Amino acid sequence: MLAIIGGSGLTQLSNLEVSRRQVVRTPYGEPSGALTFGKIAGHEVVFLARHGYGHTIPPHQVNYRANVWALHAQGVKNVVSIASVGGISSEFKPGALAVPDQIIDYTHGRAGTFFTLADRGLHHIDFTLPYCQALRAACLKAARAAAIKLIDGGVYAATQGPRLETAAEINRLERDGADMVGMTGMPEAALAREIGLCYAAIAVVANHAAGRAGSSQGIAMDEITAVLRQAMGSVWSVLEQLAKSDGD
Ligand code: HPA
Repeated sequence: MLAIIGGSGLTQLSNLEVSRRQVVRTPYGEPSGALTFGKIAGHEVVFLARHGYGHTIPPHQVNYRANVWALHAQGVKNVVSIASVGGISSEFKPGALAVPDQIIDYTHGRAGTFFTLADRGLHHIDFTLPYCQALRAACLKAARAAAIKLIDGGVYAATQGPRLETAAEINRLERDGADMVGMTGMPEAALAREIGLCYAAIAVVANHAAGRAGSSQGIAMDEITAVLRQAMGSVWSVLEQLAKSDGD
């Protein structure tokens, strides 16, 4: 069974044939909401809205540990995250979809490890390649089958939010090598690795990052919403193909 974490623009999988919802309690507190089990293209998936079903939880207050733990407790192997981002490098234009292959973490103060309970011991996970290579490949294959263009790779800069960045901050992220910027990619990816899940992200470029192109004077939230609404059709087509193989 494939697990899907939906971000902004995907708080509901409107085409999902819902079979049941399940509240999960975790040693790390409450997840963002009940898990939704259902079928995509006849294949069972479990879905969780990262910001809550009413989109009320800001990126820095998401209980990433509870979310990842709750999905892991369902016995899933593959978790695909849908994450909206601002585009920094030129290929990452509004409406583009990408499967990032690297992360730079600029977040702070988030509960970012499971290794805080005495009984879990201490491990230093390998995070050289932060995303699961097999699931990245499966996403790219699914996109090919759906005839949807998915950019293969890119560096995801995870910022603290909830505010958007300054133009100078985006210049700095670009100098650091970032192609896209979002607020929720970390610690989610690291927690998934710690607990042994195969995790990859499909990034949806919602806007030019601050100071770039159409965002040179500012970023209009209503444009972000419109771009995301349009792009979700393509995301859904990729998810349909991905669900068919359970992400394998
Ligand atoms: N910055 C950070 N996160 C985002 C952006 C952005 O420009 N767009 C969508 N998520």
